[in-house]
Amino acid sequence: MTAEAGLVELVRRAREVMRNAHAPYSRFHVGAAIEAGDGSIHVGCNVESASYGLTICAERMALGAAVSAGATSIRRVVVTTEVDPPAAPCGACRQLLAEFGLTMEIRAVGPTSERRWTLGALLPDAFTRETLEQ
Ligand code: THU
Repeated sequence: MTAEAGLVELVRRAREVMRNAHAPYSRFHVGAAIEAGDGSIHVGCNVESASYGLTICAERMALGAAVSAGATSIRRVVVTTEVDPPAAPCGACRQLLAEFGLTMEIRAVGPTSERRWTLGALLPDAFTRETLEQ
C-alpha cells in the first residue's frame, strides 16, 4: 500500500471509530487511528465519565490498543474531529505518544480541512526517557 493509500485508510478508520465515542457530556466526538511501524492500524475513541476527570482521550485509547496488540513503534497518528480547523491532540496525549519518539507524524482531520505536524513540533523541549538518563 502506498503512503497516500495508507493515509486514506487511517482517516477512514478514525472517522469510523469516532462514531463510537462515549461523549454524553461534551458531545465532542474524537477518533484516532495509529499506524504502527509494522503497518498495522489501531483505533480509539474518547470515553467520558460522569466523574469528568476520568475521561480518556481518543489518542490514548488508540495508543493503549496499539501497545496491547504488540506495537513497539508508531509511524503516524490521525485524529478526526467534527471541527474546522481540526483539533490537535491535547498535551497529555502528546506526552504519552512521546514514549514512541518525536518523529511520528500527527495529522488532524476535520470535515473540510486538515493540519499536520511532527510530534516534536507539537511538544518542544519534551521531557523524555533521555531526560531521565542524563
Ligand atoms: N479529547 C480527545 O479525545 N482528544 C484530545 O486530544 C482532546 C480532547 C476529548 C476528551 C473529551 O471527551 C472531549 O474531547 C472534550 O474535551
